[in-house]
Amino acid sequence: MISVRDLERRYKRRDVHALRGVSFDVSAGERFGIVGESGSGKSTLVRLLAALDRPTAGTVSFQGQRIDSLPERKLRFLRREMQIVFQDPMGSLDPRMRVRDIVSEPLGRRSPERVAELLTAVGLPEDAAMRYPHQFSGGQRQRISIARALAPNPSVLIADEPVSALDVSVRAQILDLLARLVDEFSLTLIFVSHDLGVVRHVCDRVAVMRRGEIVEIGPVDQVYAAPEHEYTRELLAAAPNLRTELARLKGETDA
Ligand SMILES: Nc1ncnc2c1ncn2[C@@H]1O[C@H](COP(=O)(O)OP(=O)(O)O)[C@@H](O)[C@H]1O
Ligand SMILES: [Mg+2]
Repeated sequence: MISVRDLERRYKRRDVHALRGVSFDVSAGERFGIVGESGSGKSTLVRLLAALDRPTAGTVSFQGQRIDSLPERKLRFLRREMQIVFQDPMGSLDPRMRVRDIVSEPLGRRSPERVAELLTAVGLPEDAAMRYPHQFSGGQRQRISIARALAPNPSVLIADEPVSALDVSVRAQILDLLARLVDEFSLTLIFVSHDLGVVRHVCDRVAVMRRGEIVEIGPVDQVYAAPEHEYTRELLAAAPNLRTELARLKGETDA
C-alpha cells in the first residue's frame, strides 16, 4: 500500500535534519504505528506520506506509484484515498461551519444520508449535524474529525497523535472507535503517537523513531516483549500503561 525509501527531510531555514534515511513498507489492512518522543520527526514523516510536503531525498510510493514528486493536480486521487486525523480537532475544524458541512465537505456535495450514516458510525447522534464544533466536548470533536476523514471512503487513515489532546478518560473510547472503524471499513491505519501504551492499544506493527531515524521496527508484541534497541527500552520504561492509568483514575473517582 505504502512504500518509503531512504527518506530525508531537511528544514534549511532552521538547519534541522528531521528525517535521516527512513525506509519501510505498509501492507493493505495493516495497523502501522509510528512512535517516538516529541521532535523525532513523526509529523514530518506523516506530511511526506500524504504528499503534503516534499522530501529532500528519497521516495514515497502509494499503491506502487511514486507520489513524492507529483504536481498537486495529479494528487487528487490521493486526497481522497488517504485521510488524516490530527491531534487538535479545534484547530482542524472550522468553527463557523455546521457539523453537516464539515463532514460533507470532502464529498464536494451535500448528502444528508451520508452525513447521518457517518455520524452514526462514529457514535454521534444524528442531530449533531446542525450544530457547531464548539458545542461538543474534545472527544466528540475528534469523532467529528474522524467522520469527516471517512467521508470520501479512503483506503488509508493516518492519525497523528489523535488522542494526545484528550482527557485520559476518553482516550480509550476514541482508540476503540478507531480500531472498530478500521475493521468495519477495511482501512489501512498509520497511527502516530509519542505514547507507546497508546500504540500498543491499536497497532499490529510499530516503528520506533528517534532523531529522524527508525531505530527499531517489528510486530508490536515482539517490540514490547523483547525490545532490541536501548531507546525502545527507555520509552517502555517511561510509558504509562493506558489500562493501568484508567484503573487508577477510576479508583480515584470511586474513592
Ligand atoms: N516546518 C518546519 N520548519 C522547520 N523545522 C521544522 C518544521 N517542522 C518540524 N520541524 C523540526 O523538525 C523536527 C521534527 O519535528 P516533527 O516532525 O514535528 O516531530 P514530531 O512530530 O515527532 O514531534 C523538530 O526538530 C522540529 O522542530
Ligand atoms: Mg508531531
